[in-house]
Amino acid sequence: MTKKLPDYADLAGRLVLWFRSAARDLPWRKTRDPYAIWVSEVMLQQTQVRTVIPYWERWLRELPTIADLAAAPIDQILKLWEGLGYYSRARNLRRAAQMIVREFAGIFPTDPAAALTLPGIGPYTAGAIASIAFNQPEPILDGNVIRVLTRLLALGGDPRGRELNRQLWAHARYFVEAAAKLPPASRRGQFGHCSALNQSLMELGATICSPANPNCALCPLQKHCLAHRLQRVDQFPETAPRPTPTLRRFATAVLEHNRRFLVCQRAIGTVNAGFWEFPNVELAPGEDPQTALAALLGLPAHHLKADGEIRHSITRYRMIQRVYRAKVAKPAPWPGGRWVGQAELVALPVTAAHRKWVAKFCQAH
Ligand code: ADE
Repeated sequence: MTKKLPDYADLAGRLVLWFRSAARDLPWRKTRDPYAIWVSEVMLQQTQVRTVIPYWERWLRELPTIADLAAAPIDQILKLWEGLGYYSRARNLRRAAQMIVREFAGIFPTDPAAALTLPGIGPYTAGAIASIAFNQPEPILDGNVIRVLTRLLALGGDPRGRELNRQLWAHARYFVEAAAKLPPASRRGQFGHCSALNQSLMELGATICSPANPNCALCPLQKHCLAHRLQRVDQFPETAPRPTPTLRRFATAVLEHNRRFLVCQRAIGTVNAGFWEFPNVELAPGEDPQTALAALLGLPAHHLKADGEIRHSITRYRMIQRVYRAKVAKPAPWPGGRWVGQAELVALPVTAAHRKWVAKFCQAH
């Protein structure tokens, strides 16, 4: 059976109209500055709107322009990003800002092909900035849009697989190109049609067409949704289940000397490079944390006092850190290490797991 092509113009009109009335009031929706929109899109890639808002506001207060970002020290950038995770996003933002200053006179390129040459900017981000900041008919496709389109058009198969992914980008392009041809917006200051169309797809996926228990009764496309008509909304998208996370165990030492603590900076080329953390060691299966830590530090095991556990999960790993504390009489030098007081500990960019310990410690002192 061949499927009838969707009426892109009709659906685009509904989506744009719906978005203008239903859009959440989000701070990055009050600006057309491509830099501010770019930062929001990068932050939103792996992080929820609620979490992003204060980070985005602080970032733009401290680094209001591309030139400010390009000139900012990496420690300031990691501190501004601390807690959002996936720090390559922050490093790439800075590298891209430096490239924009060098190659585009400090002005974000309006041509999405030029934007695509910047580190950290892929087709989604390039399309989002082109459409939201410049109202260009460039498509976007992310998890939310994939869910909306696979349901609307009842598209089976793995949406990250080559063939369906190509089809989804094509549909996304037809929608935004249809929006560009709608009659001009009726009020000044409204989002342009391409901006509204792309944001409507994100918004629908985020607020109504959710993964579990979508609120179809409120959906502007309900009557046109093939999955809804087939009563198969819960069967799209056919995403492969995530593999179960791998457990990793660590032993971590909080060494104290005269109310100062030893922290080490993670080396370039490692995960979380540039962040600070307490000395730690990953444990082999069955390995005793206290013994492993004593060997790492060259201390007798009985000097290390157990001080609880930190749990931290990221997409692929569930990490458990057994924390030990020790007061040392002589602050031994440590490669890449520094002895810092509590105020400096709070100010430094610290890896997310160890930040949990710092927060607990600071609350208690
Ligand atoms: N998710 C990705 N981009 C977004 C945006 N601009 N607004 C809200 N949620 C988003």
